Amino acid sequence: MSIGIIGSGALGANVARALAKKGIAATLSNSRGPDSLAALVQELGPSIKAGTTSEAASADVVVVALRWVDAEKVLSGLPAWKGRIVIDGTNPVEFLDPNSPDAKDPSNPLAAYGIKAVDLGGKHSSEVFKEFVPGARVVKAFNHLDVKVLSEPEVAGGKRVLFYSGDDAAAKAEVRKILEDIGFAPVDLGPIDVGGPLASLPFGSLAAQEFIRI
Ligand SMILES: NC(=O)c1ccc[n+]([C@@H]2O[C@H](COP(=O)([O-])OP(=O)(O)OC[C@H]3O[C@@H](n4cnc5c(N)ncnc54)[C@H](OP(=O)(O)O)[C@@H]3O)[C@@H](O)[C@H]2O)c1
Repeated sequence: MSIGIIGSGALGANVARALAKKGIAATLSNSRGPDSLAALVQELGPSIKAGTTSEAASADVVVVALRWVDAEKVLSGLPAWKGRIVIDGTNPVEFLDPNSPDAKDPSNPLAAYGIKAVDLGGKHSSEVFKEFVPGARVVKAFNHLDVKVLSEPEVAGGKRVLFYSGDDAAAKAEVRKILEDIGFAPVDLGPIDVGGPLASLPFGSLAAQEFIRI
């Protein structure tokens, strides 16, 4: 099964790092093209290759590691999904310019983190995300841990718990296998309408929680 990653920033690069540690093949992409990824893929090792966004999107399993504000535009320009698995690693937050009024807005509880929640009109983010990838089987995963720990699934005495959720049992089984192969302890949070909001930043009650399965 092939794996593609769209976005090579904090999240995408660390998902690639976690895969690379186990020698699992993946195609990593960003907005600037494969040449811009030469140093990173060399550092990660031979299982990770740089590709275009279209190449990454044509994999059997596609990890979306884009900022929320970019996701709709980037994903709408890609070929039809035709039942392929898309892992939604996004969170509905906007990164703030530290000099912007939003960054100093006292009514923004996330201002200290340099982010603000995106107003989704009462929907949860995966509900909206699914509309960006019509025909895909969406599994929510990789979004709830700090990227600093994402590339270290195995810790002394145990494995990090990684939550995932989705509506397609077969797609979830494929994603679970990848998470296990990387070294995580995957925990199924059920349908995406249940698990998505629980594990989504900024306000999900399981978001940013670091659990270790002993
Ligand atoms: N940072 C975290 O701790 C963390 C943890 C979990 C989940 N998340 C979520 O993960 C997502 C990504 O966050 P991040 O921190 O990784 O952001 P980031 O570091 O800014 O990376 C974003 C990536 O998206 C790429 N991109 C932008 N426009 C594109 C386009 N048109 N085509 C292809 N690629 C494009 C960028 O390409 P270039 O490199 O070429 O600019 C960059 O590689 C967000 O939704 C965030 O909420 C973040």
